Amino acid sequence: MLEQLQELEAKALEALQGVGTTEALEAWRIRYLGRKGELTVILRGLGSLPDAERPAAGREANRVKTALEQAFEQKAAALEQQEMARQLSEERIDVTLPGRPVEPGHLHISTRTLREIYAIFAEMGFQVYESPEVETDVYNFQLLNIPPYHPARDMWSTLHTTREGVLLRTHTSPGQIHAMREYYPQPIRIILPGKCYRYEQVTARHESMFFQVEGLAVGKHVTMADLKGVLTHFARKMFGAERKVRFRCSYFPFTEPSAEVDMDCIICGGQGCRVCKNTGWVEILGSGMVHPQVLRNGGYDPEVYSGFAFGMGPERIAMLKHGIDDIRYFFANDLRFLRQFA
Ligand code: DAH
Repeated sequence: MLEQLQELEAKALEALQGVGTTEALEAWRIRYLGRKGELTVILRGLGSLPDAERPAAGREANRVKTALEQAFEQKAAALEQQEMARQLSEERIDVTLPGRPVEPGHLHISTRTLREIYAIFAEMGFQVYESPEVETDVYNFQLLNIPPYHPARDMWSTLHTTREGVLLRTHTSPGQIHAMREYYPQPIRIILPGKCYRYEQVTARHESMFFQVEGLAVGKHVTMADLKGVLTHFARKMFGAERKVRFRCSYFPFTEPSAEVDMDCIICGGQGCRVCKNTGWVEILGSGMVHPQVLRNGGYDPEVYSGFAFGMGPERIAMLKHGIDDIRYFFANDLRFLRQFA
């Protein structure tokens, strides 16, 4: 038994010399020190030794066991050192190398334009009011003085949902009714931005989804002069202090009187060009004095209150401002276009 133990010790220690990896070390441990390892097998035989031999064999077995365990620990520590040294030399990080640039995103041109619009109106005391994109026929049309089957509906090609009377708003004007019903009887000074949807043939000038910014002011002394002042100030803030604006008679079912606002063409300065179709003027928005029936639908007595409203397309504003000739660029997600407005 003593010889057997010493042979095992010698064999195991020799084998350990050749161990170069942690996997091999683990295999070594299982082979010699494991529960079914060679040392354990010998130790099991201790019980069947004659009484006289057992104490010496026991002592020797313990000594070999300790010796192998110590050798194992040493080897493990040495391998760990080696591994660390290897990592340090192979996986060296050169902290002096220049960083790899991360390309940051930026705001979409429509968002940027919306924020410019908000800022200009915020200076004049207008708050932002949000209203739903999915609307009822009642809000989108009827409460705005556009009854069912009325020819005025032709102004908006509508996307209907499968639920009767529920549609995607064709303009931000229904928000006027939501706001009036919420604010009554307080005075109102808000802009209502958001997406609108139309069943359109998509062309350079028409998209099926686009933004609008509606404006609404209601109070006891709101006049057309206020409307002209606010919108002239807006045009000059947005397009330059030298801008000329004109108010041209128009028709919208929810305003009376109605006006479309033109400004002198910023491309040709009023000389006449392709953008202004040789008129020297470009249309920037629609507006008017809130129709008495619309005020009433919002809860305000038109004998006491008056209001003005306007609606503009921020994509159109951006197109004029940046000389963009096709509205389809805005939502086509071509980075070559979008990056120009970083
Ligand atoms: N809702 C109109 C449209 O989508 C735009 C508009 C015109 C809004 C005149 C107004 C307004 O508030 O007064 O074509």
